[in-house]
Amino acid sequence: MKTTANFQKMKQNSEKITMMTAYDAPAARLVEQAGTDMILVGDSLGMVVLGYDSTIPVTVDDMLLHTKAARRGARNTFIVADMPFLSYHANLTETFSYAKRLMQEGGANAVKLEGAGSVINTISKLTEAGVPVVGHLGLTPQAVGVLGGYRVQGKDPESARKLVADAKALEEAGAFAIVVECVPEQVGKMLSEKCNIPIIGIGAGVDTDGQVLVYHDILGYGEVHVPKFAKSYANISPIIEKALKTYVHEVKEKKFPAAEHSFTMTEDALSGLYG
Ligand code: KIV
Ligand code: NA
Repeated sequence: MKTTANFQKMKQNSEKITMMTAYDAPAARLVEQAGTDMILVGDSLGMVVLGYDSTIPVTVDDMLLHTKAARRGARNTFIVADMPFLSYHANLTETFSYAKRLMQEGGANAVKLEGAGSVINTISKLTEAGVPVVGHLGLTPQAVGVLGGYRVQGKDPESARKLVADAKALEEAGAFAIVVECVPEQVGKMLSEKCNIPIIGIGAGVDTDGQVLVYHDILGYGEVHVPKFAKSYANISPIIEKALKTYVHEVKEKKFPAAEHSFTMTEDALSGLYG
């Protein structure tokens, strides 16, 4: 399994870091087999697999359940688990207890927290306590209500400079990497140049130190809206749809199960049965 030191080295060697989300064991197994450097059990699971329309309703228990499942599927991959909405702002005792659960019970190697401001101090306390932390800047979906929607961030010089300052503060606080979401590619590049820790981009251009995408977006799996910054490398929804419809049809038409899916009694047993 790769470590935070490996990710640091990869940045120094200009070797791109790959991260993908996975929320269950079979997905995590496939993602691990694909050779990803890190798995993210993202709170995007709220939208992608739980059917919510934002990440706001996701709870620590939800994150725990899915982190455990991902870990069972991928025993040898570094797993980052998202701290969900408002689970790291009330007080440090609560924050610590959630991070502890995600690591001890869930099997996560690190946690991810969105934002800067007071979160910076929280990150320094967590890292002091031995919890590896990934920051998350730019479009921070847990703050969608405050941001006023899912919009590109850091488009003007002032907000871009603020992103750089926040990223440096997260680095200073001890974060070992930062996810940067939905910013102009020039800002993604600048952040990667100015920071010593890896910048993992999503909608942040090609010059970040790594990339992260959502499993379902990569696969074209599900009904969710695929954002502009995601690339679908397959389109599996129609394949699933066709298989499911064919099953329904074959049952109705008595084409399934066929002989090869059925068990039979011997002739002797059968005559005994009917006497
Ligand atoms: O929850 C998630 O999947 C994320 C990625 C989009 C970075 O935070
Ligand atoms: Na997330």
